[in-house]
Amino acid sequence: MLKHYISIYYFSGTGNAKRAAEWIELFAKNHHYNTHVINITDIKNIIVAPDSPIIGFCYPTHGFNLAPLMLKFIYNFPRTQKNKRVFLLNTRAGTKLGKVFIPGLSGVALYLPALLLWFKGYKIIGLRPLDLPSNWLSLHPALRKKAVVQIYSRCKNIVEKFTGKILSGKNVYRGLLDLPLDIPVFPIAVLYYFFGRFALAKTFIATSECNLCNVCIDQCPVKAIKLIDNRPFWMYHCESCMHCMNICPQRAIETAHGYTVLLWWLGLSVIPLYFTKILLLHLIPNANFDLIYYLIMALTGLPLVFLGYKILHFLLKYRWFNRLIAITSLTHFKFWGRYKAPKNL
Ligand SMILES: Cc1cc2nc3c(=O)[nH]c(=O)nc-3n(C[C@H](O)[C@H](O)[C@H](O)COP(=O)(O)O)c2cc1C
Ligand code: SF4
Ligand code: SF4
Repeated sequence: MLKHYISIYYFSGTGNAKRAAEWIELFAKNHHYNTHVINITDIKNIIVAPDSPIIGFCYPTHGFNLAPLMLKFIYNFPRTQKNKRVFLLNTRAGTKLGKVFIPGLSGVALYLPALLLWFKGYKIIGLRPLDLPSNWLSLHPALRKKAVVQIYSRCKNIVEKFTGKILSGKNVYRGLLDLPLDIPVFPIAVLYYFFGRFALAKTFIATSECNLCNVCIDQCPVKAIKLIDNRPFWMYHCESCMHCMNICPQRAIETAHGYTVLLWWLGLSVIPLYFTKILLLHLIPNANFDLIYYLIMALTGLPLVFLGYKILHFLLKYRWFNRLIAITSLTHFKFWGRYKAPKNL
């Protein structure tokens, strides 16, 4: 007979964190626990089930932090008066080289939400990174199927042990072991949160293979794609979760690498350098070069990304331009592949 409840809130782009939540549900049954698995994008108001003594959060790591949507969710999570127990499980970019499983890196993806929940009165009983296959196809090609299957079965065992320990009353703080590596990447986590994620949202395009089926628009968990001039347009609140790119039936969604490299080179190097030199030569000759350079970089960075993307989107209506952007995108090449969490593993 099932006697207790666990609530697990998850967010997932390509299905890894969702699968982790489902595994916990599966293994929790063996310990006579009933589990509510809740996708945070499906709920309007957060209600903490009174019959859940244990609450779990599963989410992907984005930019050495937790996915911003989950961070916001946990930030708004109600306080507890009853000392409820919580565990956090972040899925990371796992890979496999030869026989070796290579882990991802959490940064603050566990500590930040743990701190927030602790302030809200929760008792933290589990901090666990889980190295499921990396889905960040803007950076690298999709992992081969064999590696994905092996990573999945390894992680399933890890989740089984984790669930067993948590439900038999033990605390699991495996996430703390990575602390010496997590601390140095903290500045990158901050940069990603305040700049990187917005810039990344403006690297996605739909090529002329797009037949306007609307699948990406309907399935985006945060509704960050809209049609402008009959072409998908990515908005700033895109979470870069990679769901759209991986589910497009036409494989029409690309990361525009060629365009992005050119724009970032202009915005982060050429333009700030040019204006810094002008300012130093004519207006404030004794000023600190680096300070002015970084200031201009910060001031021009995002507006340039935004403006560049608008122009890019306009020009994509020309077939020759669309083709040029497509063939300068690494994701366009067949070997790059696409990633979705495998079913039935
Ligand atoms: C934009 C973006 C940023 C990422 N940043 C990290 C990271 O900092 N560290 C890491 O280990 N994995 C990182 N990853 C990989 C994912 O966290 C990982 O593949 C995760 O298992 C995906 O889970 P999901 O399928 O539930 O979305 C990143 C992925 C994306 C798309
Ligand atoms: S899913 Fe692909 S084909 Fe469908 S609208 Fe989006 S980009 Fe176009
Ligand atoms: S636009 Fe694509 S990558 Fe961005 S949040 Fe939506 S589904 Fe994820």
